[in-house]
Amino acid sequence: MSRIMNVFCIVVLTLIVAASSPAHSYNDEGWFWTWTCNVMLERCERKSEPTNSFAYNFGKTDPHQYNSLSVCRLTCGRYGALWPKPTISTSLSSQLVSLHPQAIQFQILNAADEARNFLVKNTEIFYKNILAECGKNCTARSDTQVIIYLSVLNSDLTLNWGTNETYSLSVDTKGNLVTVQISAQNVFGVRHGIETLTQLIASYPIYSEGQQGFTRSLVMVAQANIQDKPVYRHRGLLIDTARNYLSIPAIKRQIDAMAASKLNVLHWHATDSQSFPLESPRVPQMSKFGAYSSKKVYSPTDVSHLLKYAKLRGVRIILEIDAPSHAGNGWQWGKAAGLGDLAVCINRQPWRSYCIQPPCGQLNPVNPYLYNVLGELYRDFIDIFPKGEVFHMGGDEVFFPCWNATTEIIKYLERNGRGRATEDFLQLWGEYQREALNVYDTEVGNTNTPIVLWSSGLTDPSVISKYLSKHRYVIQTWVPSSDELPRKLLNMGYKLIISTKDAWYLDHGFWGTTSYYTWRKAYSNELLRHDGVLGGEVCMWGELVDEHTIDNRVWPRAAAAAERLWSDPDSGTASAEARFYRHRERLISRGVQAEALAPRWCYQNEGECA
Ligand SMILES: *[C@@H]1O[C@H](CO)[C@@H](O)[C@H](O)[C@H]1NC(C)=O
Ligand SMILES: *[C@@H]1O[C@H](CO)[C@@H](O)[C@H](O)[C@H]1NC(C)=O
Ligand SMILES: *[C@@H]1O[C@H](CO)[C@@H](O)[C@H](O)[C@H]1NC(C)=O
Repeated sequence: MSRIMNVFCIVVLTLIVAASSPAHSYNDEGWFWTWTCNVMLERCERKSEPTNSFAYNFGKTDPHQYNSLSVCRLTCGRYGALWPKPTISTSLSSQLVSLHPQAIQFQILNAADEARNFLVKNTEIFYKNILAECGKNCTARSDTQVIIYLSVLNSDLTLNWGTNETYSLSVDTKGNLVTVQISAQNVFGVRHGIETLTQLIASYPIYSEGQQGFTRSLVMVAQANIQDKPVYRHRGLLIDTARNYLSIPAIKRQIDAMAASKLNVLHWHATDSQSFPLESPRVPQMSKFGAYSSKKVYSPTDVSHLLKYAKLRGVRIILEIDAPSHAGNGWQWGKAAGLGDLAVCINRQPWRSYCIQPPCGQLNPVNPYLYNVLGELYRDFIDIFPKGEVFHMGGDEVFFPCWNATTEIIKYLERNGRGRATEDFLQLWGEYQREALNVYDTEVGNTNTPIVLWSSGLTDPSVISKYLSKHRYVIQTWVPSSDELPRKLLNMGYKLIISTKDAWYLDHGFWGTTSYYTWRKAYSNELLRHDGVLGGEVCMWGELVDEHTIDNRVWPRAAAAAERLWSDPDSGTASAEARFYRHRERLISRGVQAEALAPRWCYQNEGECA
């Protein structure tokens, strides 16, 4: 790791431009309309009359008149088109410079081999993203040369809660030369800087006489200075691949959109009572009995691939194997294999008597073989995930009537002179958790990997310290914003990840009496300001989404939460709106089917629908 590379220059540009032809729609607001920036109101304003002239003599006509809304947006207002907005300092000039993708050159400074590779791959992502902005006819020439220097202080590739994500970005234009400097402690900071740079670039259409149709040109903010770092270190999205399977491309789209929004944790709720799609080489029965089909599984190769894909985009994946509740299908094979019932109440009816949501199923805490199987399972995932990575053990919604209706468990309690009151079952749950943690630690070979658990009966302030050490467990709370639980747990010294149920549960509004939370609600959800709050997560529970519908249920709402987590703004949604609309277009251009936020008229008439 100590090998320091000198200036390393890559000339991969032509290759990439030729290789990728962006398939997605691009921002096409240039048709007929021109825009000017109202500097006072920080709004791009649409001319009331359409125009027939597409001649756009860049920089030679009125510099504040733009024939593309996305170009106007680049420098209109203090934060232009940036999402999430930077936290330390931002200055953007209103000058723009036109550029051609083939005239961009990267120079990578001070990075050892692996870190350099990481950055090279991110330059490829950068090209892909700016070409997506420009569309197919991104051919307008420009004699500007752009040199982008990327520099890191160290080549460490660890991404965790301790990773320093700070970066600085400067753009300076002198004559025909644009110099960009992005520097950070490590590659993850530089990656954020590259994403921000992408957001300083947009495109506009050019009508060329003599040729048919339009070409487009890219433009970039000519002078910029940005210092930036996130407020919270855990900025997450939960996806659920157990209620409905999500294809690998669907998961990658979520990661792409997270990268665009600077979210950094994909919480993978991989298994539940409905299905167990994770393939475990040591316990192949799990997916064999638990997956919806032989195709709807994640092999260890798939998981490694996703881990790599995510990390390159500044995203960690934290795996959750929910237990001891939310576990059923996949666990049916114990008896036939001579291991007894590993889980109980599996698919039992009438389900309301044995669980909260069908199908039922809960692990059998009194079967010693259960812990051997858990150990084998854990081992498989420990092998694939980065060393020391956080593990999520689930731990929500244990439904005592299931255990209380299971002869084996009742007999166990009797044999040990214990009762069947709520406290007795809590104790049993606590014992399960202690044993599962032991098994996990034995497999990892140490006792300091952080473990996350959902808030539940076991994390109630009146009992939590009896069962869960604050030095070991991080609690993910999922209560409404008015609930006192997070504050109480913080006062007791627990660290928290907050998933505010009445703002960040993206599945709400589609079932029962729940209501849909708009992006404004997601944006306005302030977390408690306390050192113990690591950050938060928006949750996309998977009952009513699959690969066909997940994009627009999650996006762009998750990006609203992303600005809350990155910038923790004091300002409200009114001042974020135009940038947010732009960010939604950005997600679309990158192939994410983000939902529409308002009629197009509102998008083209900034501030008029607030
Ligand atoms: C993070 O990195 C920045 C830029 O290198 C540095 O100024 C800052 O002190 C670092 N922060 C911490 C907590 O180390
Ligand atoms: C791209 O440009 C070519 C040549 O100018 C033209 O024939 C074609 O119609 C253009 N495509 C679009 C989508 O405008
Ligand atoms: C378990 O079942 C017994 C017998 O029906 C009942 O007395 C007890 O209250 C139940 N315990 C819980 C926690 O529901």
